[in-house]
Amino acid sequence: MTSLMPFDPERASSPTRWRRAVWTSLGLVYLFVWPASTVFGHGHSTGESVVRLVALLSYAASYIGLIIVNNPWTGITTRSAYVMLGVTAVLAIAYPIVFGANWVGLPIYLGVACAMTLPPRWAGRGVIASTALTFVMCTALGAEGGTLALLTFETLTVGLLMLAFRTSRILVVELREARGEVARLAANEERLRIARDLHDLLGHTLSLIVLKSEVATRLADRDVARSIAEVNDIEAVARQALADVREAISGYNQRNLTDELENSRGVLAAADIEVTVKTSGAPLPDQLDGLFGWAVREGVTNIVRHSRARTATISVHRQGATAVLDITDDGTAGEEPASTSGNGLRGLGERVALSGGTVEAGPRADGGFRLTVRAPIAAPASREPAGEPAS
Ligand SMILES: Nc1ncnc2c1ncn2[C@@H]1O[C@H](COP(=O)(O)OP(=O)(O)OP(=O)(O)O)[C@@H](O)[C@H]1O
Ligand SMILES: [Mg+2]
Repeated sequence: MTSLMPFDPERASSPTRWRRAVWTSLGLVYLFVWPASTVFGHGHSTGESVVRLVALLSYAASYIGLIIVNNPWTGITTRSAYVMLGVTAVLAIAYPIVFGANWVGLPIYLGVACAMTLPPRWAGRGVIASTALTFVMCTALGAEGGTLALLTFETLTVGLLMLAFRTSRILVVELREARGEVARLAANEERLRIARDLHDLLGHTLSLIVLKSEVATRLADRDVARSIAEVNDIEAVARQALADVREAISGYNQRNLTDELENSRGVLAAADIEVTVKTSGAPLPDQLDGLFGWAVREGVTNIVRHSRARTATISVHRQGATAVLDITDDGTAGEEPASTSGNGLRGLGERVALSGGTVEAGPRADGGFRLTVRAPIAAPASREPAGEPAS
């Protein structure tokens, strides 16, 4: 993730408009071949020369202005660009008519302007229209056959070349944006993982700390030695929580079903809930083992926090190609409406869905609560949750 460059809209629209203008104006060098060389001399009065010079500069300005007002690499054409393109087209037609056949090369720039400005699906048609315009102007103004062929060919090839360049540049910009998007999604996914991990880890250990603190307080008067033992336990749990949080943040934490089942016995016992654990079948693949470890942790934390149960059952078994975890209790679920503000079961649902499985949770018909997690034993590799790689 860190190897990906962060998305930067400034970079995406580079080169900047002034750099674009400089590069584009280099193409104007061809204007000097014909029209510019006829501005002065050729029997023109000073006034006529000035008018021609102003005409030439206005054409160059409208052409460069187009490239400045409209970023060709976005594929979007602004309203002012349409207006300036219209002005460039009118000048490309008017000047050769007014100043003669030496100016018939102007539609070449119109072709380039169309290629660089119009929406990509219209740009090709703009180049062809400019080529047709060059042909018509050359014919109408009596240009020689060689000049007609050369200018028509130039309008078409230069226009298409610029269109191909622009298209590839737009693709590069889109690719860069897509890469930025991938980096953002990866960062979001990682944030979600850390949020889920912290929720599950801290929800569980803090519940255990609360329970043990209550026990320690109750025993303080009657049995100081046991009370101190509980306080020592609290210290150990708190230290473990610290280590877990560090692992969650660095992405190295991997839950383990056997450890979580063992841990659950201790937590439920501390809450005076009698637990029966039933496991059958071969051990689960690592990724599923870790997933069920998380589910046990959340299910047991919920029993301690919400159920007021006396007994609980945790069962892990296989149904064909599906692994099933069932956690039930005989508590008071259903007597009061369940809270909808929690994240635990929702986060668990997201984790399990990434492995192609399902989560069902709710009050049982005969009282108490049931949490059932089903997941395919051969989980699809492409949907592994981030931070919990199958090993
Ligand atoms: N074993 C259970 N017995 C009774 N009610 C339960 C049990 N498990 C879950 N619930 C109900 O389902 C709700 C949603 O549980 P969930 O784990 O999603 O959230 P939470 O435990 O309230 O908060 P969080 O897990 O985010 O700290 C709970 O608030 C509770 O009302
Ligand atoms: Mg919960």
